[in-house]
Amino acid sequence: MMIVFQDYYGYDVRLSFSDHPFSRHPKHVFVICRYDNHWLLTNHEIRGWEFPGGKVEEGETAEQAAIREVREEAGGIVQTITYIGQYEVKRPNETIVKNIYFAYVAFLEQRESYFETNGPVQIEHIPDDVTTDGRFSFIMKDGVWAYTKQELQRRGMI
Ligand code: GTP
Repeated sequence: MMIVFQDYYGYDVRLSFSDHPFSRHPKHVFVICRYDNHWLLTNHEIRGWEFPGGKVEEGETAEQAAIREVREEAGGIVQTITYIGQYEVKRPNETIVKNIYFAYVAFLEQRESYFETNGPVQIEHIPDDVTTDGRFSFIMKDGVWAYTKQELQRRGMI
């Protein structure tokens, strides 16, 4: 099943929880993280609070990129990680495809630098409506988070 909606800026998004529906080798990853009974996000310097993620580098798999990004942006050492789904954002000049993962973080390391972020943010509850909450990144403000949360609940993972 394919879910279609628009992102915060009005660009078309397609989301699916099947096995790599848009690309076998996506160039981006997005990692829903749990740590110590909290959600673990990162505070991006420009965009605000969002789950860790980023681009897959040359020579690594998407899953390796996901594990690396959680460490770089939130200091999280991943214990388990599961592929959940994939989404595609269509912009005028580019289409990006992201794998969505669900990860359990075993512990947090203190880092000198968290790349383009201000490091980890641990929160017990993410408000049901984040669209008007200035602390959150636009990446959290479309159907990706809302539907993925539902999917994780359906699977009994959260
Ligand atoms: P870097 O600065 O090199 O990380 O890349 P970039 O700023 O060019 O962005 P990137 O290639 O990661 O993404 C391309 C465009 O898609 C940018 O305008 C992003 O804002 C947007 N984008 C990235 N990730 C997401 C996402 O998860 N959801 C939505 N809706 N848009 C995204």
